[in-house]
Amino acid sequence: MIAGNTITLANFSVETVRQEFPILRRTVHGGTPLVYLDNAATVQKPQRVIDAITNFYATSNANVHRGGHALGTEATALFEAARTDVASFIGAAPDGVVFTRGTTESINLVASALASKFGANLSGKSVVITEMEHHANIVPWQVFCEKTGASLRVIPIHNDGTLDMHSACEMVTENVVVVAAVHVSNTLGVTNPVAELCALAQSVGAVSVIDGAQAIVHYPIDVSAIGCDFYVFSGHKLYGPTGIGVLAARPGVLDELPPYQTGGAMIDTVTFERTTYGAPPLRFEAGTPNLDGAIGLAEAVRWLQAFSRDAIVEHEERITEELLSVLRDVPGVTILGPGRKHAGIASFVIDSMHAHDIGTLLDEQGVAVRTGHHCTMPLLRRMGLSSAVRASIALYTTSADIEAFAGALHSAIRILR
Ligand code: ALA
Repeated sequence: MIAGNTITLANFSVETVRQEFPILRRTVHGGTPLVYLDNAATVQKPQRVIDAITNFYATSNANVHRGGHALGTEATALFEAARTDVASFIGAAPDGVVFTRGTTESINLVASALASKFGANLSGKSVVITEMEHHANIVPWQVFCEKTGASLRVIPIHNDGTLDMHSACEMVTENVVVVAAVHVSNTLGVTNPVAELCALAQSVGAVSVIDGAQAIVHYPIDVSAIGCDFYVFSGHKLYGPTGIGVLAARPGVLDELPPYQTGGAMIDTVTFERTTYGAPPLRFEAGTPNLDGAIGLAEAVRWLQAFSRDAIVEHEERITEELLSVLRDVPGVTILGPGRKHAGIASFVIDSMHAHDIGTLLDEQGVAVRTGHHCTMPLLRRMGLSSAVRASIALYTTSADIEAFAGALHSAIRILR
């Protein structure tokens, strides 16, 4: 473990947490206090993450895995310590953690490398995803299918937005080569039974890929308990910087994958006739990596590890329930998903009102939410929608934020009715 959980359920104070986030003190639209409820799109950063990035450039910046000089050695040690700490946070081995640009690149890396490995030999085989996937876990598999001849199959959801596990069991057969599923839906807030899905995949010899972009910030993640081959997430949704993400692989799985991108740092030897590749994880990190991103992400992980997980879960579940309860009282509202046990996310529509109009009127009152298709167009189409409003919370969200959201929503509704 990196650090003890010094902030427990007993001494957790959301006001103390908020003091660590300078951006939460700002106002918008000429003096309106900011109520930031777009945390599923990106969370804000604590000062110590901002400081870690600044300090790196002020004191230790040099390229990594290259120079033998003092700064190069120091920067390499910081970068590799970041890998070790991020690996420890999710129960992975450091050499199974590849730094990428984010969830999207992590999935593209796996899909592209697997397509190279399989070649155009997968006619009659299939990739199974779910109906609630983000575009980042749909499109790379469509491209994979174009390259390999496999077909894409989709596990349906029930009307309440939960995954139809009966269909999943029927669809994951010997002909399936990949099962790719989201852990927590960015639109529904639904948590999928990913360990069950990975066990199904494993039983037929398929590769399992779990998109943890929305789960990682709310739940303790242990990739070996989930039993996945790959678990992916982004730094910026975990209180870390943008432009950094993780592809965590089961031990040994990366050894069998060809490179995704090629160039410096990922090689063993190069001649004009032939190149041999280095070992993972560096085999998948061609070029100069995002050093400050990795260092900032590791600092975010260390920051989060100061909180006991029950403190995080208790606070976030309570605030999410307050959010859902505000929405349940709105006449004509439909909450997407089951309307209970959402992981920090509540998407909704209101009869005869356009999501964008609601979003604009909320913004005018300082309340930041996301509106639109949330990069899940097939899911929204399945629900008969083209757009929805999404409010999403973080560890620093207060009951006062939810009350402000409720007040702003009711005044938006008065204008739109
Ligand atoms: N994938 C992010 C979201 O759900 C950007 O908003």
